[in-house]
Amino acid sequence: MCMFNDSSGMVLDEIIRGRRTYRMFRPEVPPEVQISMIIQAGLAAPFAAAAIGGKGNEYFRQFFVFPRGSRGLVIAGGLLMQKIHIMADGLETQMKQNPAFQSKAEPFARRLEIIRKAGVVPGVGTAPYYIVVAERKGFPPVEQQSLAHCLENMWLKATSLNLGFQLVSVTGQMGTDPEFCRLLGIPPDVFELNGCAVGYYQEELPPSIRPPADMVTKWME
Ligand SMILES: Cc1cc2nc3c(=O)[nH]c(=O)nc-3n(C[C@H](O)[C@H](O)[C@H](O)COP(=O)(O)O)c2cc1C
Repeated sequence: MCMFNDSSGMVLDEIIRGRRTYRMFRPEVPPEVQISMIIQAGLAAPFAAAAIGGKGNEYFRQFFVFPRGSRGLVIAGGLLMQKIHIMADGLETQMKQNPAFQSKAEPFARRLEIIRKAGVVPGVGTAPYYIVVAERKGFPPVEQQSLAHCLENMWLKATSLNLGFQLVSVTGQMGTDPEFCRLLGIPPDVFELNGCAVGYYQEELPPSIRPPADMVTKWME
């Protein structure tokens, strides 16, 4: 059992406050050992023990690291961009049919349109590493929640190493994509996926502004 002291708490608070979404990366490539440390932190995250599905040959949580300039990254980037097109077209059709849905979905549809026009999925090729995390599906289906815990651990570890980190959420749409799964060497529809980009950030960002806890907390009787 670990015993923590006040200074460990202060370091943790600093890392939590320092965690930001970085979207601009320097070209230098962080050492692979740091990527391994980030993955180890992801492995330490909680998982839904009661929900983990059927046994496979591999551990239920897997990581796939795509370095910038790799053949795999080019293929992954193309498949992710195809998915952006499919999502944008699907949203457009739904928005035309349903005005209530349109007002809800419009900001996200605009964001997809920007990505479509730019022709680059943010984080994929814009950072030295794109990392896909896979969690085997189980019941109840809580893999995306598990992946969020895993990614938060990875994010905090990257922050502690002074590395920038960006979620690549569209990866969450790729678990059923046969070509993307073939690229990873996993069967389609067996794992939920999510992803992130890691590298040296271009410019350090100040801590995010959040309300004081008292403002958003109700102590219940
Ligand atoms: C579920 C979820 C999905 C997100 N997806 C993306 C994404 O795909 N790309 C991105 O750049 N940021 C993504 N973000 C980051 C948020 O935009 C960011 O956390 C928020 O703006 C607050 O900024 P901060 O992380 O710097 O505190 C996502 C965040 C969450 C919680």
